[in-house]
Amino acid sequence: MIIESILTTTDANGQVNCAPMGVEWGEELIVIKPFQNTATYRNLMAHNTAVVNLTDNVLLIAQSAIASPVFPTRPAVRIDGVVLQDVCSWREVEIETIDTHEPRARIATRVVYRGFAREFLGFNRARHAVLEAAILATRTHILPREQILAEFERLQVIVDKTAGAQEHEAMQLLTDYVYAAVGAP
Ligand SMILES: Cc1cc2nc3c(=O)[nH]c(=O)nc-3n(C[C@H](O)[C@H](O)[C@H](O)COP(=O)(O)O)c2cc1C
Repeated sequence: MIIESILTTTDANGQVNCAPMGVEWGEELIVIKPFQNTATYRNLMAHNTAVVNLTDNVLLIAQSAIASPVFPTRPAVRIDGVVLQDVCSWREVEIETIDTHEPRARIATRVVYRGFAREFLGFNRARHAVLEAAILATRTHILPREQILAEFERLQVIVDKTAGAQEHEAMQLLTDYVYAAVGAP
């Protein structure tokens, strides 16, 4: 099963990077699959650790999908890394194996610490809609313009029906970004 996370990694100078990543979930092993042209991949090669942050704050996911924000963090417990402040729970992981045969690397990691901060509330359709919109926003260079605009129109209906303020803000941010990238309808 793929779980959508925000990965926090650090470069050789200790600079933190936050990026949404869908990871193959396991209790003991988590597989991270970053494209080799991402900062996440480069950081994982420089440091062999990461934090897999699980959050219901989709604004963080939207912001880190389209830019390189530095979010508030605290030190990780077991590894040399950081945990997002607004996290529900997290896993601290160390790299076990790296497969770079494909442009999207497969990095198998071992869970060395599990942390819990706050409750993850139940399903909210707007949050899932924003998640889908964030993925589309990272693919404007691959997908046809009409498909992206049609998907955004459909996802906006869900957001309008079920969102709170944070989800509205996240959707607006992504819509502005996508319209700037492919042109508004
Ligand atoms: C929900 C979600 C899941 C994503 N999963 C991945 C992934 O597994 N691998 C990947 O390379 N990019 C993934 N992306 C796209 C990256 O987050 C995006 O390319 C980001 O800009 C990479 O950032 P970085 O260069 O700071 O590492 C995902 C985006 C979203 C919104």
